Amino acid sequence: MDRPGYRRVVLAEDEPAILTALEEVLTADGFETVGCPDGLMALEKARDRPPDLLVLDINMPGLSGTDVALHLRMVDAQADARILIISGREDYRTHRLIRDSGADAFVLKPFDVTTFRRAVSELMELPGRPWLEARDWYTLEELTTGPRRRGGFETGVPTGLCEEALALARTVSLMARSVDERGAHPPYHTIQVTGLALMLAARFQLSPEHRRALRLAGLAHDAGLALLPDSILAREGPLSPRETDRVREHPETISRLFEGVEGADEVASWVRHHHERWDGSGYPDGLAGEAIPLGARILTVADAFSAMTTRRYRPALNSREAAAELRHCAGTQFDPDLVAIFLEVTLLGDPGNH
Ligand SMILES: [Fe+2]
Repeated sequence: MDRPGYRRVVLAEDEPAILTALEEVLTADGFETVGCPDGLMALEKARDRPPDLLVLDINMPGLSGTDVALHLRMVDAQADARILIISGREDYRTHRLIRDSGADAFVLKPFDVTTFRRAVSELMELPGRPWLEARDWYTLEELTTGPRRRGGFETGVPTGLCEEALALARTVSLMARSVDERGAHPPYHTIQVTGLALMLAARFQLSPEHRRALRLAGLAHDAGLALLPDSILAREGPLSPRETDRVREHPETISRLFEGVEGADEVASWVRHHHERWDGSGYPDGLAGEAIPLGARILTVADAFSAMTTRRYRPALNSREAAAELRHCAGTQFDPDLVAIFLEVTLLGDPGNH
């Protein structure tokens, strides 16, 4: 039911008695509730109309609560919705899973009504976009730290990158942050591109080293824009041909930094080629088809999708409209097989449903 003035919550829980109980509590607290027996339905409902809050059980048949969170954050660019995960476990892996999904908080099962209410009201009162602020996305923790203890948990993994590459990664992450902060991108474009690229990479079963390289390449892909003045970087109007040439230097700016650095060949190559097009009409080298490295093709699709769903100067497309646009440009701008996989991974693949 559409109740103007009410905050909207999408709830997903596969145990009917718990779902009903939670709906009753939230309705009493002034929410308009949309109850769902599984994650896929919750995702569809949230895509139909972005909610203020999602309450998601972590273990559900089909799509888990953390899968729903990840899709909404990375695919649908829903930065404002608060996401509360209900979990029966609180071990390190679960914490990590919840954090990496973009959820804001979790409550541990079993819980009483008072605990649940408090968790919801604390979450709704937080200012800003807590999931983005809770974690420093630019520190490259997984890339730049070895195993260490933090808050009782083991964090980070061995990097496989040499000291020189790590130092460069830190520099480039600062450049990427400055590009975002100076308004070259809509909020969290760089994070979204990296998240989408990693969702795609999961399908290709890339090695941990290649996953880390893709994460760094995602973060670094537009960091070269940091060298541009604000007059070009944050311009709303069209650029002159000379200014366009300068913008088009950004992939090479970063790839040159990583070239010849031990263990960073893929990062250099994937960043360099993220503006190539499948039909050979891209830049900087005019590569076509499978001559474009897979990591670069992944970044290209993720970058284009993110740009469409969060663009600043024209109305942003929703994820289904952007999916249609990707389909339209498959085989010319994008690797058609990769577009098909992207649509499958993002659950945007069946136009008949939409
Ligand atoms: Fe770019």
